Amino acid sequence: MAASHTQPSEYLLTLTLVDDAALERSHVVANARMNRARRLSGINSYERELGFDPLAWLRARPAQHGSAAWLDLCCGSGQALIEAASTCAATGEQITFRGVDLIDSFVEIPAALRSLRLEAASLHRWDSPDRFDLITCVHGLHYVGDKLGLVERAVSWLVPGGQFLAHLDLANLRRASGEPLGRLALARFRAAGMVFDRRSSLLTCSGPRSIAFGLKCLGADDSAGPNRTRQEAVDSYYVASGARRAVKNRWA
Ligand SMILES: C[S@@+](CC[C@H](N)C(=O)[O-])C[C@H]1O[C@@H](n2cnc3c(N)ncnc32)[C@H](O)[C@@H]1O
Repeated sequence: MAASHTQPSEYLLTLTLVDDAALERSHVVANARMNRARRLSGINSYERELGFDPLAWLRARPAQHGSAAWLDLCCGSGQALIEAASTCAATGEQITFRGVDLIDSFVEIPAALRSLRLEAASLHRWDSPDRFDLITCVHGLHYVGDKLGLVERAVSWLVPGGQFLAHLDLANLRRASGEPLGRLALARFRAAGMVFDRRSSLLTCSGPRSIAFGLKCLGADDSAGPNRTRQEAVDSYYVASGARRAVKNRWA
């Protein structure tokens, strides 16, 4: 998204879309109200939101692969990662942890905890040469401009057999006309070998994958109002971006 305001169709003449930079400054995205403090397990936790125990899953990986790595996108305070990293440091398990969030509201990392890195950066631009066994995005995509673009990039950061899980509210995906994009998005997810669970709102796949959904993000609407989380969220607007590259799993 290059310009700060885009008006690509008649419908959108009545709607001002914001670009990444404006979104990152928006009160809907950069506020102190949202839940950034989920723990690893318990009532307000990753285990509960993801429906599985991420640390237990990761701990099985070093036996097969020697080491393991967890990348948490939109990691909030980093509390879940710190708890997981502390547990593994105490047992000497070879697992590394990385979290990225737009806002630097991270809890302090104990000095001895070298297996964890928390980074303040926008995922609109973030990239990494590193590869990960587990990539999660717990209620983070709701605030991202190009949600599908981030999914495309994130699944390419998986190691073979790695797992991707992200919450997504389909109602936050819109066509340039303003109509819902949900059905088309579901079809593109299926074609890409991804699974979307409506009950949990989780989009998952194993990877790594080279995916192009064939949808170009025009911009975002930060005045969309609350989504399934009952928190204010961001709608993302898409148009078909011409010939769709075949979806292929490089390791399939
Ligand atoms: C609802 S919070 C969830 C935090 C954490 N995953 C948790 O469950 O505790 C959503 C997070 O997404 C982050 N976020 C929003 N837009 C972002 C962006 N463009 N890049 C990185 N993080 C972003 C916010 O700062 C916030 O910490």
